[in-house]
Amino acid sequence: MFTKYIVLVVLLHTTAAVIYELNESDLARMPPLFHLDNYEECLQDPEGLYCMTETLLVSDEPSPLLTMIQEYAAHRPTHYNRTLLRHGICVTRTCKKFYENSKEDLRSALEACANESLYNNYKLRGRVLEGFDCSKPEKSKPLDNLEITVAGICAAILLVNIIASFCDYYFEKKTANGALRYLYCFSIYRNWEKLVAPATERKEPRPLGLKGLHGIRVINVLLTIGGHALILDLRFVENPEYIENLFMYKVLHILLNGTVIMQTFLMISSFLLVYHLMLASEKHTLSWKMLPQQILIRWLRLTLSYALALGLTVTWFGRLASGPNWQKMVGNEITDCRRNWWRHILYINNYYTDSECMVHAWYLAADLQLYCTALVVFLACRTPRARKVTLSLLFVAGAVIPAYHTYRQKLDGVLVVYPEFLVKIFMENPVFDYIYKRGHTNLIGYVVGMSMGYMVYAWQKAGGDPTSFRKYRYFYWTLFPMGCLCCLTGSLYYTHSPPPTLFIDVMFAAFMKPVFSIIIGTILVGVVIQFEDLYRPIVSWRGWTIPSRLSFSAYLLHIGFARNNVAAVTSVYRTSLWIMALCIVKVIIVSMIAAVIFCILVETPFNNVVKELIYGQKTDKKDKKETLVDKDEHIVEKSDKLTSKILDEVANDNGFIRKRLVRSS
Ligand SMILES: *[C@@H]1O[C@H](CO)[C@@H](O)[C@H](O)[C@H]1NC(C)=O
Ligand SMILES: *[C@@H]1O[C@H](CO)[C@@H](O)[C@H](O)[C@H]1NC(C)=O
Ligand SMILES: *[C@@H]1O[C@H](CO)[C@@H](O)[C@H](O)[C@H]1NC(C)=O
Repeated sequence: MFTKYIVLVVLLHTTAAVIYELNESDLARMPPLFHLDNYEECLQDPEGLYCMTETLLVSDEPSPLLTMIQEYAAHRPTHYNRTLLRHGICVTRTCKKFYENSKEDLRSALEACANESLYNNYKLRGRVLEGFDCSKPEKSKPLDNLEITVAGICAAILLVNIIASFCDYYFEKKTANGALRYLYCFSIYRNWEKLVAPATERKEPRPLGLKGLHGIRVINVLLTIGGHALILDLRFVENPEYIENLFMYKVLHILLNGTVIMQTFLMISSFLLVYHLMLASEKHTLSWKMLPQQILIRWLRLTLSYALALGLTVTWFGRLASGPNWQKMVGNEITDCRRNWWRHILYINNYYTDSECMVHAWYLAADLQLYCTALVVFLACRTPRARKVTLSLLFVAGAVIPAYHTYRQKLDGVLVVYPEFLVKIFMENPVFDYIYKRGHTNLIGYVVGMSMGYMVYAWQKAGGDPTSFRKYRYFYWTLFPMGCLCCLTGSLYYTHSPPPTLFIDVMFAAFMKPVFSIIIGTILVGVVIQFEDLYRPIVSWRGWTIPSRLSFSAYLLHIGFARNNVAAVTSVYRTSLWIMALCIVKVIIVSMIAAVIFCILVETPFNNVVKELIYGQKTDKKDKKETLVDKDEHIVEKSDKLTSKILDEVANDNGFIRKRLVRSS
């Protein structure tokens, strides 16, 4: 691999030389990108001081080495910025003499220290950037008020859980009414049963293979969690060239561009929204009155769990791990969340770029924003013609908006997962900030999902016959490989060549998401109308149901674990594919276990309470004998109840939130 030494002079805005590849001996001449002094030993000394620094390489005299490093770093898509050393320094040992000379000006001491060792070893100098952070031997941090409050809330919820479970156990047969009904929402038995209940075949007005969506959702969630775990993990490795080298494999480019799979969640969310609303509209005239009502319900159902996850993130998650990276990986998030929590509660956090607080929650915000839009569109367009026109216009808008941003702001056409992006934890990537996470730039997935909802509904209403599609099944089976190919086209951004021109960027921004959404959307439709036997059995496997119900909790919590996993690292280590795989599996397992607990103790109870509040009065007389579990699943006859249940699902399916979905016979 490292046999060529290529220097290409690329004429862009300025003349800049870029080195795409270096051989091992040249790489070994560079100062190490990541380095950590021994952390534990350093802080055993009661006076110990340990600082994480970023040092920019400079040189007073002409230095071929520095030029080489700069030219190598200039290829951002696959190379780390090796002019910026990320070192953890035990100041009281490594830089003892400098530290004693200038205790007041720590930065100077660090810089002089770096200057000396860089000069002795490489004939280079360094500039220590502001914003380094230091740790001292920990005196156990006292609890602050917020931590006590969150602990109190958790204890209270747990107490209610326990009391409810006891009551449930002892008075099982008795009817639950009045306050007891609310209490039973928290019963661990019932919520556990709900979690593990098989996806029952409820008699729906019309048969549909919605169960397959569980599988698709779980696969997407696992990929997302795994991706996040990996992204956060790729730092403080001894062999960054191993990672840089991986970027050359085409197969990996599929995964790197796999970030578009977030469109799948949006599609599932909007598909179910429209499909259920259409069903509901058969029995009820849907009025504008339901707009605020549905939004409120959805907000409540999301926000209660979300707020607690946020509360845990800013408090107790911060105590899970400690290490030199703690401040950067966990501490900054806590600070930002304590300042900006309200953006999350209002679901506008995806329109800010200055916060590291629960960055992954951009999805929840974007989904809610698009949900409101979709509801408005649904209520405004009552005729097929109006729907066609509106959705076509929105589809065009969904393609044009990202393209316009790309053009105006001169961005990359896809979210390029630069190695530096990995180190900076999602921050300072304009494509991520302005296109990837915003609501209006993700319109396309929602529009495609909505159209699917209308089409599937109309097809069924016309007495649709799945077997008539069988002749297309070979074409249908090529869709998954085509989706992969679609991701592979983004490989253009990782090649050893000058970056694509703005025109290509704009084309990618305009077409990548729409094409991908249509491919995946067609797969979804195929799974739902059940006309073939290759993809459907896989995604309709019964085993997907439980993880699917956990997916919202898992999504809320997983970043906390992934961040702490990195915060606990105290020395650089050699990475390899095997170690990365282990890291992914570790984070997935821990997130899933936490999700089980969170789902049973928090998410499901809160959902039950909201459901009782909104729909309880209407339905309680009818099903005195049913337990809550049945109530959720039972065959429904009364049209009133059906409508409220469907509306409930409308408020509930956000691409994550599990619902007992239905498979026909
Ligand atoms: C690496 O490349 C440099 C510059 O082309 C060359 O001088 C050196 O011999 C090469 N080393 C090896 C081990 O190939
Ligand atoms: C590397 O980081 C330094 C400091 O942040 C920055 O000035 C420089 O432009 C970066 N180099 C590349 C190629 O991104
Ligand atoms: C480190 O070296 C640079 C470049 O020679 C110089 O500008 C800087 O003042 C030095 N820092 C200290 C603290 O001596």
